Amino acid sequence: MRVLVTGGAGYIGSHAVRALSRAGHQPVVLDNLVYGHPDIVEKGLKVPLVVGQVGDREVLEPLLRGRHPALSGTALEGKPIEAVLHFAAYAYVGESVSDPAKYYRNNLGDTLTLLEALVASDRPLPVVFSSTCATYGIPQQVPITEDHPQAPINPYGRSKWMVEQLLSDFAAAYGLPSVIFRYFNAAGADPDADLGEDHDPETHLIPRVLDTMSGREPYLQIFGDDYPTPDGTCIRDYIHVADLADAHVLGLERLLRLREREETLAAPLIYNLGNGTGYSVRQVIETAKAVTGRGLLAHVARRREGDPPQLVAGADRAHRELGWRPRYPELETIIAHAWAWHQKRHQT
Ligand code: UFG
Repeated sequence: MRVLVTGGAGYIGSHAVRALSRAGHQPVVLDNLVYGHPDIVEKGLKVPLVVGQVGDREVLEPLLRGRHPALSGTALEGKPIEAVLHFAAYAYVGESVSDPAKYYRNNLGDTLTLLEALVASDRPLPVVFSSTCATYGIPQQVPITEDHPQAPINPYGRSKWMVEQLLSDFAAAYGLPSVIFRYFNAAGADPDADLGEDHDPETHLIPRVLDTMSGREPYLQIFGDDYPTPDGTCIRDYIHVADLADAHVLGLERLLRLREREETLAAPLIYNLGNGTGYSVRQVIETAKAVTGRGLLAHVARRREGDPPQLVAGADRAHRELGWRPRYPELETIIAHAWAWHQKRHQT
């Protein structure tokens, strides 16, 4: 299957490209490289990379027909794309508050252009969309199931939620088949330590803990220890990035099977992706100490605005309907893989 992967030079997208290749599919990456890493795609994953914006019709249209110059000489040349995994998005919550236009333009506006291109032919192309638990806002209860009300509290979450609405309307009006995955906290790295998290700036807890343990940062800030949780720090559901990648292959294959049976979907298929177990910031730090054998200096700082006290997934639907079984559910393994990648990358 020829699959366009937008944002395939980024953290989660690059792992999905690897999973697709291993499952026998043929991915091509479209990435604007604002935060993505071209070497990972071309040298590491060895798949074609098209540098461009998802919202640029002049890039998108030839690409979907297999006629973009970056595809010449590859197995994808002259052959139409059959499905899309849409990861490309900006994902800094704080920046989305200070510069919402950037988020709505890129995450929402460009996605509208992409979806229009997908429904331009008689047979709309299936799409798997990366959404987020941030679309739930402050949860009313945990674990959070897919039918929990959605009330995102920042422009990043709202941009993702709005795309979910687009997908729903496009399914009803144009028969666009889609899967929406709501990720909880993506973490870890490829078990072979070839791929991993490489954000600049880095805001996520686990890489920051590891940066502090390896001496790249002087200390870690714990954002608030007065939350209504057992140790006062925020609880999150950390999910291995390779398990997220596997879910994408399963989601895609589900859409393709439906298509083969000529079944249409009146609405997107929606799945939470998490392990269903929450860990506090302090538990993450303690686990990282045990895994790495290193210590760190941590200071309690003020709460970070917009952090819900607790986010834990109810992901039974993905288990039941997709047969998704996370291979690395233990936090120790997630951190061990992140640490192996961190050491390889920084030679620490
Ligand atoms: N934290 C710290 N210190 C740090 C970094 C994070 O204490 O240096 C805390 C945060 O306050 C939070 C927890 O660690 O309580 C996890 O923070 P991350 O930044 O790693 O992850 P978030 O839960 O904020 O973010 C994730 C996704 C976002 C998504 C969000 C939904 O990365 O894309 O969940 O709330 F929007």
